[in-house]
Amino acid sequence: MKTINIGIIGYGTVGTGVTKILLENRHLIEKKTGTRLHLKYIADIDLVTDRKVKLEEGVLIGNADTILNDPEIHIIVETVGGDTFAKDLLLKAIEKGKHIVTANKALLAKHGDLIFENALKKNVTIGFEASVGGCMPVIKTLRESLVGNAINAMLGILNGTCNYILSKISCDKTPFAAALKEAQMNGYAEADPTFDIEGIDTAHKLAILVSIAYGAPINFKDIYVEGISKISPLDIEIAEQFGYRIKLLAISKWREEMIEARVHPTMIPMSNLLSGVNGSLNAIEIQGNAVGSMALYGHGAGMMPTASAIISDITDIVRDMVSGAAARVPALGFQREHIRPIPIMPISDIDTFYYIRFSAIDKPGVLSSISGILGNHNISIRSVHQKGQNQKGAVPIVMMTYMARESNIQAALSEISDLHIIEGEPVLIRVEESGPSKSALS
Ligand code: NDP
Ligand code: HSE
Repeated sequence: MKTINIGIIGYGTVGTGVTKILLENRHLIEKKTGTRLHLKYIADIDLVTDRKVKLEEGVLIGNADTILNDPEIHIIVETVGGDTFAKDLLLKAIEKGKHIVTANKALLAKHGDLIFENALKKNVTIGFEASVGGCMPVIKTLRESLVGNAINAMLGILNGTCNYILSKISCDKTPFAAALKEAQMNGYAEADPTFDIEGIDTAHKLAILVSIAYGAPINFKDIYVEGISKISPLDIEIAEQFGYRIKLLAISKWREEMIEARVHPTMIPMSNLLSGVNGSLNAIEIQGNAVGSMALYGHGAGMMPTASAIISDITDIVRDMVSGAAARVPALGFQREHIRPIPIMPISDIDTFYYIRFSAIDKPGVLSSISGILGNHNISIRSVHQKGQNQKGAVPIVMMTYMARESNIQAALSEISDLHIIEGEPVLIRVEESGPSKSALS
């Protein structure tokens, strides 16, 4: 039986999960691939922490260079994270002709084009299924299963930490900070959790998916990003009273030679499939012009689900190596000469529905002042609710709009904020009324 040697660099949450699967499911993988996957080395700067895995003597080492410089290592698994050390590591590994598997979306969102270009020149494969959606095979689905489709839209919950926090606030009334702490304890969060809660991690993932879906260079910087740190329990509660859930969504829509690509908290109807995706689970709805609407669902973060995706990439590479077909599927799914820049639509140009909550002094004429300004900006109101009447001080006034242009909404909100009857900044949450219905499955 052919032996493929593997080196893991980064023995933290994900690296430990990969190690466990390679050791515990060794025989199963051999039966499926006809190949022996030999974990030769694991490198980490921390040689002290007990990972509760029994390793053979000499496997755990302190210097990644041993793996880089070992001609017997065929595949390097990068599970360090960050975009400095990991970037150098990947570029050096490619130079040495080693295949790579990584879960590092931050790195790919920033330097993916360079890494893929270098890999193509050296005919090595970069597997990165684990970088988006944990165990959900979303990259394989876009690149391979949906190869015959033009992608019209993608709507996804792509961050386990945020989904965990929002679910805990909504279901158990857990405070934000406590829910974040739990997500960190469970190994879901990034080393810097602001990447999670400010939506940056989701935008990294969306940047990767958009490239694969439409054949464009990776463009993280033009994606509109808003996180969940300003979402209050009050808005979660009101949303539920109205029949909606608030989720951090990654949204992309094909707009005829432009792409809508945005990440923000979004109200979705309870009837939408995505509204029932809770905890660290991720899900994505993909709309293709042949397939119609389809969805994937699974754990988007955590040790073993992420490791499962890494093993899938490893075995793809192994099967290609055995059949002599390295780099069979292009990294971004398109042939290099067909990858071209596609502009991302500015957020000001999008049209969607809105939830707006004002804190307003409860006195006659307040509603007409607000609705007058909205009307002047071509915004039609779908419903108005005032929570708690005839109180001294400010009361929440909640409005749901019909489809409106974001630039009009922003102009109206800035005018309304200046009214002396308004206290503080209005809260604005975009509403997505389209999407797969739960009833479609029943
Ligand atoms: P961890 O922090 O748990 O693991 C990273 C490990 O790499 C740590 O043990 C760290 O040591 C070690 N390390 C740091 N620098 C070096 C170095 N120079 N050489 C060798 N080892 C080093 O992170 P995760 O496992 O959670 O994440 C790893 C990657 O996977 C990241 O890119 C992350 O975004 C991604 N990912 C994570 C998921 C998750 O659920 N956790 C899911 C999907 C992707 P030390 O702790 O001492 O710094
Ligand atoms: N921090 C990420 C999350 C890890 O919470 O989704 C998975 O990419």
